[in-house]
Amino acid sequence: MTYETILTETRDRVGLITLNRPKAMNALNGTLLTELIDALTAFDADENIGAIVVTGSDRAFAAGADIKAMASASAVEMLTGSFVELFDGIRKARKPVIAAVSGYALGGGCELAMSCDMIVASETAKFGQPEITIGVIPGAGGTQRLTRAVGKAIAMEMVLNNRTLSAQEAQQFGLVNRVVPTERYLDEALMLAADVASRAPLAVRLGKESVNKAFETSLAEGLEFERRAFYFLFATDDQKEGMAAFVEKRKPKWKGK
Ligand code: CAA
Repeated sequence: MTYETILTETRDRVGLITLNRPKAMNALNGTLLTELIDALTAFDADENIGAIVVTGSDRAFAAGADIKAMASASAVEMLTGSFVELFDGIRKARKPVIAAVSGYALGGGCELAMSCDMIVASETAKFGQPEITIGVIPGAGGTQRLTRAVGKAIAMEMVLNNRTLSAQEAQQFGLVNRVVPTERYLDEALMLAADVASRAPLAVRLGKESVNKAFETSLAEGLEFERRAFYFLFATDDQKEGMAAFVEKRKPKWKGK
């Protein structure tokens, strides 16, 4: 499938999606988000793919929602349009999605990165929610995901006063998994994705769902969900294989069954 605003490729069991609107710093318009979700959904449904990486360019992961496309929108157009809802497509992915972030991850770009399951950042990555400077607030999860990731004090400063986080600060506050030199961030994200893609697929899927429950439910409900997922995995071939391989001191061969 050929897209207008993204590039896609596969690297063994990893699907790679590259945002590709260089002249607009990968600003997210309806076309880009629709194409991104389309490619993500296709990789998610492909049994040969075990994990997905979303990246931008060295200069900009994404500089936010496309302000030029949004500037004249009415409240009713925003409400009845699907732009912000499109972000939900990332959350719906069953397979792990890793953001490889370099340069600007601002506004919707920061929200896009935070919608992924893990973030690998280059030393030049800058995370921010500058919506306050254009008279609005984040609309694609920024106030919620940022607060859960970095805590109230820093989230307030970012949302109310346009504080940006350097890659090092983002790592210190728990927003990103690791920070690496710019020439290595994509390879590092691809390696992490390949590692995860090599693991027992059903356990990866239920592990992801269980961690996400921690953000969406009470502790009691989350613990209950985790326990049931754990029991369920004992009905899979991969549990038998994984534990037998440990006992027999060999590498397991996963079937995803
Ligand atoms: N929307 C549309 N176009 C954008 C854009 C955006 N979010 N960000 C950058 N661009 C465009 C610029 O307009 C410029 O285009 P032209 O050459 O046609 O003028 C091009 O990308 C290069 O940008 P700059 O010349 O500004 O580059 P810079 O290096 O001087 O600055 C920047 C880079 C700091 C990222 C700056 O472009 C900037 O502040 N961008 C806007 C960031 C922002 O406010 N994002 C939040 C958007 S709202 C949102 O995301 C809502 C939500 O929650 C969903």
